[in-house]
Amino acid sequence: MALLFISNDDSPVEWQDALTSFDPDLDFRTWPDLGTASDIEIALVWKQPPGSLADLPRLKLIQSLGAGADHILTDPQLPGGVPIARLVDSNLTQQMVEFAVLAVLSRHRRMKQLQLAQTQSLWNVIQPIPTHHSRVGMLGFGEIGREIGNALTRLGFPVTAWTRTAREDSNIVCQSGENGLVAVLHSSDILICLLPFTEETKNILNADTFATLPKGAYVINMARGGHLAESDLLSAIDSGHLSGAWLDVFNEEPLPSDHLFWKHPKVIVTPHLAGLTVASSAAEQVIKNLRLVRSGKAPNNAVNLKHGY
Ligand code: GLV
Repeated sequence: MALLFISNDDSPVEWQDALTSFDPDLDFRTWPDLGTASDIEIALVWKQPPGSLADLPRLKLIQSLGAGADHILTDPQLPGGVPIARLVDSNLTQQMVEFAVLAVLSRHRRMKQLQLAQTQSLWNVIQPIPTHHSRVGMLGFGEIGREIGNALTRLGFPVTAWTRTAREDSNIVCQSGENGLVAVLHSSDILICLLPFTEETKNILNADTFATLPKGAYVINMARGGHLAESDLLSAIDSGHLSGAWLDVFNEEPLPSDHLFWKHPKVIVTPHLAGLTVASSAAEQVIKNLRLVRSGKAPNNAVNLKHGY
């Protein structure tokens, strides 16, 4: 029985080494060299070509190579009835925490203005604003959001979070529903998008959202490019309502070289690297999931198709 690896962004050699260190008998195959299709029990995928999972008669699990599964669900020929699982990896979570803290502190201490001042040899002392005046709002509060919220709270930032369904947390004030969203936006000097990408969250960062944020607010998108209405963001920054944005994800990746974001003085662009999957730390859970589905059980971190994540 075999595993089929499909990704242009992850290293098959690293994954094969990492997986076979947990299961030396694993028959690792890399798409499109499937061999006998009926051998394949598990597909380990990142942005699989549409239809590539359609003719695998013994497929028991589609395992995402990332924390999100939206890249899998867009395939119109996705085989029905095969469970899909996301990765929940402490290494990736830690990277996401570091990235969120970096972006929040960078805005809070006005790094972009300081760098600009340096290019002009200007000794520009910017008085720090008190941490408790930089209110952070998070859209999304899953495994990653909780850790980010805790890290920012420890640094002294007041944090609120918005989630699809009502949630309780001992550290962070959580809101849900339409009114909850407005409440979180009203009190977000820095807004971080961490949501799963679904039909409901598509373009959630739009002109109305920005208008609800306080003047001078800053937007960090480290979820998916499809969450953001790009031209609405540029209008909100250029009108002076928003102070800027840090974007790690884009509608089109790599971001086209003529895109306005690249050279915008108030936008920081990073190439979708806030949290990258590390084979050596994530392989064990893939093998665990393979064992679970082989014994007829549901995999860990299964995607709920109704919710889309
Ligand atoms: C990356 O974006 C992921 O889903 O892990």
